[in-house]
Amino acid sequence: MVQEGRKAGYERIISQLEGLIVGKSPNLISAMSTICAVLHAKMKHHFWTGFYFVRGSDELHVGPYQGPLACQILKGKGVCLQCSTTKKAVVVPNVDLFPDHIACDSRSKSEIATPLSRGGIVIAVLDIDSDRLAQFDEDDVEPLSQILALTKDLE
Ligand code: SME
Repeated sequence: MVQEGRKAGYERIISQLEGLIVGKSPNLISAMSTICAVLHAKMKHHFWTGFYFVRGSDELHVGPYQGPLACQILKGKGVCLQCSTTKKAVVVPNVDLFPDHIACDSRSKSEIATPLSRGGIVIAVLDIDSDRLAQFDEDDVEPLSQILALTKDLE
């Protein structure tokens, strides 16, 4: 875990989001918006917190997000595309060392992308950027996946 206390932070956030989303969110976009709002407000290392929807084999379109203005379309490369095509979370401690990284904002220094699937197909990616290096590691993957699983009954 990158930061002491982050595990406890995730536990609080997951419990809060469960109360806000399960049986309450009317649809997936509503739940995504709530996830971004809570994560971005509570996790101080987040510089950008948002979703990209998978569109076709090599393109993603921006969805609900919090933080500075983001790229509207990601095409042909990038951390989010790698996440959607491999169906696995991608942890990037230093974005300058990720050859295919797409820089929407030069202040972003590290990043994590986590897939959101329906029936084994990745339909969106939760993407989080920090303006500091090495703010994410493998320990973030499970709690972020748990957060995404709260949306499993929503379309
Ligand atoms: N860095 C991402 C693009 C999205 S922004 O970080 C908000 C990527 O390489 O896919």
